[in-house]
Amino acid sequence: MQAAARIALVTGGNRGIGYEICRQLATQGLAVVLTARDAGKGKAAARVLSEAGLNVEFNRLDVTSCRSIRACVAAVAERRGRIDVLVNNAGVMADARGSHFLDSKLDTYRDTLETNLFGPLQLAQAVIPLMKANRYGRIVNLSSGLGQLSEMGSGTPAYRISKVAINALTRILAAEFKESNILTNSMCPGWVRTGMGGESAPRSPEEAADTAVWLAMLPDDGPTGGFFRDRKPIAW
Ligand SMILES: NC(=O)c1ccc[n+]([C@@H]2O[C@H](COP(=O)([O-])OP(=O)(O)OC[C@H]3O[C@@H](n4cnc5c(N)ncnc54)[C@H](OP(=O)(O)O)[C@@H]3O)[C@@H](O)[C@H]2O)c1
Repeated sequence: MQAAARIALVTGGNRGIGYEICRQLATQGLAVVLTARDAGKGKAAARVLSEAGLNVEFNRLDVTSCRSIRACVAAVAERRGRIDVLVNNAGVMADARGSHFLDSKLDTYRDTLETNLFGPLQLAQAVIPLMKANRYGRIVNLSSGLGQLSEMGSGTPAYRISKVAINALTRILAAEFKESNILTNSMCPGWVRTGMGGESAPRSPEEAADTAVWLAMLPDDGPTGGFFRDRKPIAW
């Protein structure tokens, strides 16, 4: 008898790196729940993949809303019985272009953290009990080189702080849930041609998604609490 496909939930799956992560995970045989805050865009993206023969379905999810997080996880748990993989991909860079620290607004930090930190944090709180029940979980947090403390520079301060913070979340989850076979890692996709990265970025979403998909499918003795780019560890 064939083993049931692992269930993966990906945030911000309607475009960019998130869409490509959905496509690659489904190509690897996972059942993917492509989530997006805009139902029209999310359904359209999921339809393209399912019409290509991939096991992809849509569920609405705005990561800034506790209610949306609870409703989405409950709906997937009811339909599928479990969630094996969580990819916290949805992200915003809300800093004004070329902005300097002294001009930056507190609301920009708050809005950025809502999406880039509190969303992943609350999703982890909602999903981990399901993972613990199955003694299996893989959590992939999309971070950035701009969140590396060892190379910290100026510019886009709210975004940088949010990515440092999601790296801290990675370490905390890794430490707390390793014994439950829940492996949590951060990754930097590089500079990627998406809405966020712009057209001049050197990397394709296909290249960017590779490390996220690798971390989503780690064996039980794979790494946890690490920060990776191109499948290799990088400094925090
Ligand atoms: N592109 C790069 O060069 C780069 C570099 C380093 C790290 N990253 C990280 O990689 C991840 C993906 O980036 P990307 O380049 O693919 O960005 P993108 O093209 O701007 O796409 C961002 C995705 O996040 C979604 N999103 C934003 N706020 C959301 C919310 N409240 N709820 C649910 N979804 C939400 C967007 O949905 P809508 O379509 O509705 O806006 C979109 O699907 C981000 O975490 C980013 O920080 C990107």
